Amino acid sequence: MHPTGWVFTLARPGRNTLVRMDMITPEPRPAWIAGRPEQGASTIVVNHPFDGSEVATVAVPGPEQVERAVAAAVSVAKEFRRSAAHLRAGALDHVSRRLRERSEELAEVITAENGKPFKWAEAEVRRAVSVFRIAAEEARRFTGDIQRLDTDAAGEGRMAITRRIPRGPVLGIAPFNFPLNLVAHKVAPSLAVGAPIIVKPAPRTPLSALILGEILAETELPEGAFSVLPLGNAETSALVADPRLPVVSFTGSGPVGWSLADAAPRKHVVLELGGNAAAVVLRDWPDVEGAAHRIATFGNYQAGQSCIAVQRVIVESAVADEFVPALLEAVQAQQTGDPYDTNVDVGPVVDEAAAERIIEWVDEAVAAGAKVLTGGKRDGATVEPTLLTEVPASVKAWSEEIFGPVLAVSIVDGVDEAFAAVNDSAYGLQAGVFTRDVHLAFYASTELEVGGVIIGDVPSYRADQMPYGGVKGSGVGREGVLAAMHDLTEERVTVFTGIDL
Ligand code: SIN
Repeated sequence: MHPTGWVFTLARPGRNTLVRMDMITPEPRPAWIAGRPEQGASTIVVNHPFDGSEVATVAVPGPEQVERAVAAAVSVAKEFRRSAAHLRAGALDHVSRRLRERSEELAEVITAENGKPFKWAEAEVRRAVSVFRIAAEEARRFTGDIQRLDTDAAGEGRMAITRRIPRGPVLGIAPFNFPLNLVAHKVAPSLAVGAPIIVKPAPRTPLSALILGEILAETELPEGAFSVLPLGNAETSALVADPRLPVVSFTGSGPVGWSLADAAPRKHVVLELGGNAAAVVLRDWPDVEGAAHRIATFGNYQAGQSCIAVQRVIVESAVADEFVPALLEAVQAQQTGDPYDTNVDVGPVVDEAAAERIIEWVDEAVAAGAKVLTGGKRDGATVEPTLLTEVPASVKAWSEEIFGPVLAVSIVDGVDEAFAAVNDSAYGLQAGVFTRDVHLAFYASTELEVGGVIIGDVPSYRADQMPYGGVKGSGVGREGVLAAMHDLTEERVTVFTGIDL
């Protein structure tokens, strides 16, 4: 048994399916209250989405423990804000290194709790390793600006220094679809700027966040700098309302996110919400088959459960006859099954209710005139990779975030019609545009109402150091390590008078 109680997976010789090892421990997995492990007032059971089997039991802290976590975050805030950059950077480097050392175990835990295929779980761990490394680098150079004020006579002999000061302790609320990396995107920037964080992982997928708690506890971070509280959604409302936590950073669904913002109008609320991301294929793109392959892969990765998974595919009519059959072939090549099978591309969605809802949306589209080229059915929580055409823009499979392995194709005449179709959405997170025309690329980045435009690839591309976030219904604020560090801090100007410039 691994010293922490987690057990590693071993590949069975000659087979592609990894052997699932027992993760159940004699005691529930502890929560992390002000940096210390504690059993809770109740427990939640984590189930594997593929077959419903029990994965582990987790301690859920009670109100007194939550209060201690908040009080500790508040009381350490000043000391932590003033801590030396090299201490924070050193802690972040340690976390990055330990995540790498424990990457196989973490990937297994992510697959167990979330159901995503092992290869995508491994990719997620690699990204979390980078997020902490980038945060360490940024912590070392996060400085401020110096500005001369003698640009007008009234400012002669004056100079301003602008530093960024943490707004205060952060409440981070993370979703189930990236149970480690989207927790990392809350925790790493907070620690980098010296803001204590209370992180609440999704109740279905708290296990990798709890391992992160173990690793954070190995550092010299001061008591109260972090807590990991696997609370239910209802208990979280009190934290959202708590004025001692002036920043709420939420990733998850639109309705929940906007209701949090409404519930805390005086707080700094960052919302990373969903979208119905579009990939646009224009006539000048030379590798139509390659585009089809990327779109099929990133419409189906993690069973479509990414806010930037491709959902809408907008194709110029000049290439549609070549593109649509290539896309159909690529979607049909996506292999569904046990996420522990290393050949599997598409595992289950988070639970059967989600699968049922996805199929209802497909059925609604079909009733409104859409054609199913492939898929359209489910087996338990596994939804077949599905390709729809002739989808009316009014149906949910086109206009809402489906969060499932479903692609909907629309054929348009020309660039302007394509971009208008992208913008005809309540959301705007990222868009992908397959073009090699640099003028069109700039036009896309100006015209498209999204937080990010990916030229020559799918909207699902995300590098963890890039600013990431949306416009319209997709949220407010930006993540991506440095962007989040800006969001979690406010500018403090100091004016010096009588300076010899
Ligand atoms: C998300 O689903 O919002 C995150 C996507 C990513 O980090 O790749």
